[in-house]
Amino acid sequence: FSGNYDITWAPDHVDVIGHGQEVDLRLDRSSGAGFGSKNRFLFGQLGLQIKLVPYDSSGTIVAYMLSSLTDDRDELDFEFLGNSTGQSYTLQTNLFVSGKGKREQRFKLWFDPTADFHFYSFVWNPFQVIFMVDDIPVRVFKNTTDPYPSTKPMGIYTNIWGSSSVDWDHAPFVASYRGFTIDACQYSETSPDDCHDTNSQRWWSSLEWNDQLQGNLSFVRRNYMIDDYCSAYESPPLECT
Ligand SMILES: *[C@@H]1O[C@H](CO)[C@@H](O)[C@H](O)[C@H]1NC(C)=O
Repeated sequence: FSGNYDITWAPDHVDVIGHGQEVDLRLDRSSGAGFGSKNRFLFGQLGLQIKLVPYDSSGTIVAYMLSSLTDDRDELDFEFLGNSTGQSYTLQTNLFVSGKGKREQRFKLWFDPTADFHFYSFVWNPFQVIFMVDDIPVRVFKNTTDPYPSTKPMGIYTNIWGSSSVDWDHAPFVASYRGFTIDACQYSETSPDDCHDTNSQRWWSSLEWNDQLQGNLSFVRRNYMIDDYCSAYESPPLECT
């Protein structure tokens, strides 16, 4: 953990377990907590294993994102919206390109995310961004629209916080994390074009959208998607088609 990440919010609400194999973030009346990557990345698979708050987590939010943290930011979001039981968690995704967001899609999950760790990741390359739950794609944003996120390096950030509807009688609320290795191109100010080098051995550089990914995505969208910003348009933007 400590090789790749720094605690960014409320160290007294963060428990680093063992030699950093697991980290717990705790939310109570006094504070939430968070951590973020030391470095920024441009393309790769960026993910964390997360076990969400068990039992009644209503009103709690675990946010997990890649963000450039710049004006005109690029940002990819997973937000886990708590509920009265684990199985009724909502997974909300969003995506900002050059500061433009409002692209929410929401899903139910096909497992209880509070019972075990699951791997939530972004597979990001010059062709597309894939939002993955374990090895299942739940969302894709293809490089067919201008702008596409490919110029700003992004860091990894996560936190837990409480909205006004939290029942504090059930505090503390704990989200657990594992899997802190990062399989991505680390951005360097001194050689900024390095991550765009497609001749390299990086497996993600050549990953293109294919029928198997599309089949799994279609299955998830048909059975687990509960909300899609695309359906609010009469003629949806290109990214929706
Ligand atoms: C909580 O669960 C109920 C029942 O499944 C659902 O209707 C509601 O949208 C959920 N709320 C959130 C924030 O996920």
